Amino acid sequence: MKAAVIDSYKQPMPEIKAVALPKVRPNDVLVKIVAASINPIDLKTKDGGLKMLLKYDMPLILGSDFAGIIVEVGEQVNGFAIGDAVYGRVQKNRIGTFAEYIAVDTGDIALKPKNTTFEEAAAIPLVGLTSYQALHDIMNIQPGQKVLIQGGSGGIGTIAIQIAKHLGAYVATTTSAKNFELVKSLGADYPIDYRTTNFAEVLADYDYVFDTRGGKALEDAFSIVKPGGKVVSISGLPNYRFGQEYGVPLWKKLGFRFVTRNITKLEKQTGASYTFLFMKPSGPQLALLGQLIETGVIKPIIDRVVPFADIEEALTYSQSGRAKGKIILQMTDDSEK
Ligand SMILES: NC(=O)c1ccc[n+]([C@@H]2O[C@H](COP(=O)([O-])OP(=O)(O)OC[C@H]3O[C@@H](n4cnc5c(N)ncnc54)[C@H](OP(=O)(O)O)[C@@H]3O)[C@@H](O)[C@H]2O)c1
Repeated sequence: MKAAVIDSYKQPMPEIKAVALPKVRPNDVLVKIVAASINPIDLKTKDGGLKMLLKYDMPLILGSDFAGIIVEVGEQVNGFAIGDAVYGRVQKNRIGTFAEYIAVDTGDIALKPKNTTFEEAAAIPLVGLTSYQALHDIMNIQPGQKVLIQGGSGGIGTIAIQIAKHLGAYVATTTSAKNFELVKSLGADYPIDYRTTNFAEVLADYDYVFDTRGGKALEDAFSIVKPGGKVVSISGLPNYRFGQEYGVPLWKKLGFRFVTRNITKLEKQTGASYTFLFMKPSGPQLALLGQLIETGVIKPIIDRVVPFADIEEALTYSQSGRAKGKIILQMTDDSEK
């Protein structure tokens, strides 16, 4: 099959080449991928930026999520059959969706929402699960609570705004002014142009911040959150608590404690808590998100669809940091679906 492969970290761009089909384990299905989405983690993985958390053997096929059609089922598979249209986010140690086929555990997939194209469905798994886990599982947002979502026009932000509104929150979000109409159309109540306004100067008494930026934006988040509130970051640094949950060795946990000492200080000063989230694949949560899509509660937002052959263009655009919603790779011609 054709796949986008790197042979070493920091390779400028993956190369599309012929590789062997993935092996199908007893609980796996083999999926012919119709569409996959680009996520910033693809570039971070390529550059070795996540080596503290994820170390891969080379050569490595990039790509974390997909939508496609089951063409083979493992011997212990129940509940899925050849011909089913599915979508999913693969386990972090089994990535490789920038390819014609992926073998994936059935625990990590769900049936594709009926009212979406494959391209629309591929826009959901990684960002939908991340947002749901932050806003529902960790924050447990209740109607009327206030949340700031950083980067409302991005892959995460466009779905996070919709999920937060579904949970009943009042949503402030940062983006540049050109994207105000987009974020308002998704339900955002208070768009803030991060280029002209520091959110920390205009917001106060928030219940939660969903931080997608890290750095100073993450530190400033503590100044707007109430005592007992929560700052959940997907772009900040992992802390000691995360190391415990993730089961990393003691020396790594101590390293995490050292690099997040400023955050720990802010937690103590403000009475707000910090959680670093590294999202987890989940078929059952994808089924739930699928229901929200089928009932029109949330919808995928796509910036552009790019043919697989032009993956370099898609990754370069993602790297620009200007995407409005998701960038989708079309892995199969319409005639082949
Ligand atoms: N830990 C995890 O499990 C996890 C999971 C998913 C994602 N992430 C991380 O979360 C981050 C966001 O992911 P994404 O998919 O949303 O990225 P993305 O789609 O590439 O984000 C692009 C958006 O960011 C906005 N933006 C750029 N600079 C900004 C700023 N200073 N303030 C506010 N918005 C800004 C841009 O809006 P303008 O064009 O208006 O500037 C653009 O719409 C990435 O770092 C990703 O790696 C982590």
